[in-house]
Amino acid sequence: MNVIELDRATVSIGGRDVLRDTSFAIKSGEFIGVLGPNGAGKTTLMRAVLGLIQPRAGAIRVFGRAPQRGDRNIGYLPQVRTVLPDLRIRGRDFIAGSVHGERWGLPLSTAADRAAIDKMLAAVGAGELGDRPLSEMSGGERQRLLLAQALLGEPDLLLLDEPLISLDYRYQEAIIELVRRFARERNITVLFSAHELNQLIGALDRVLYLGNGRAALGTVDEVVTAPVLSQLYGADINVVRADGQIFVLSRGRSVEHADHAHDHGHQHDHGHHHHA
Ligand SMILES: Nc1ncnc2c1ncn2[C@@H]1O[C@H](COP(=O)(O)OP(=O)(O)OP(=O)(O)O)[C@@H](O)[C@H]1O
Ligand SMILES: [Mg+2]
Repeated sequence: MNVIELDRATVSIGGRDVLRDTSFAIKSGEFIGVLGPNGAGKTTLMRAVLGLIQPRAGAIRVFGRAPQRGDRNIGYLPQVRTVLPDLRIRGRDFIAGSVHGERWGLPLSTAADRAAIDKMLAAVGAGELGDRPLSEMSGGERQRLLLAQALLGEPDLLLLDEPLISLDYRYQEAIIELVRRFARERNITVLFSAHELNQLIGALDRVLYLGNGRAALGTVDEVVTAPVLSQLYGADINVVRADGQIFVLSRGRSVEHADHAHDHGHQHDHGHHHHA
């Protein structure tokens, strides 16, 4: 069964086609790495799957129908992580509020909820964050809290938008492994956007490369090749394999991981396009 289908979909923002006449299908249980340089449309695709942006032409189907806003079947970790309400709230209560929706503005939780939340926090390496107020957490700690929130609620589809940014390398590895195991056990479909392919190679089933309004979906061997990526980016791309790693180069520079160390909530900070 297809969980996500784009059928000749055109998705525009600010008068620009971020995806143009794009078709592909993602099957149930697939772990898809979503790659492409700044501004390629990774975040826009996830927002369209959530029903926050409507396609201008063509169709997007999620679980076989038009995306429904607020679908409880989808867990989402947004790239711009500014969804923190009252910073005095403690980690566990923040998550509890999202699991049940906020009734009367108060997060309600049963003992069983609290146990499930604590288990998930421990699984994302954030066991100690349950009792701490959001105001006292670092950026990376809040991010782990939001990841636990996305994983709770038993989603069938997980949209993780740059979940690795601002995490230490060892946490990055742990998060990839955790998401992969969690998703396999429950047959959850995952879109995982990232700027570094190599870290994800062991976890992903297929890659979705975005660029210039187009998309290429397939296995790493099918998509991460000089001809496919050169066509996608309309530029001379070289793909170099060395030491079990894959490097995607444009004019000798890495397409993927230049200039990304800074990304911290600046969704519209697209100063550098390496595929120009
Ligand atoms: N709200 C908006 N209004 C106008 N243009 C937008 C808006 N959001 C995104 N865009 C534009 O749409 C294009 C795709 O942006 P998107 O955020 O989807 O890229 P991305 O692949 O997620 O990039 P990044 O790696 O920087 O997160 C960019 O050119 C961006 O400037
Ligand atoms: Mg983005």
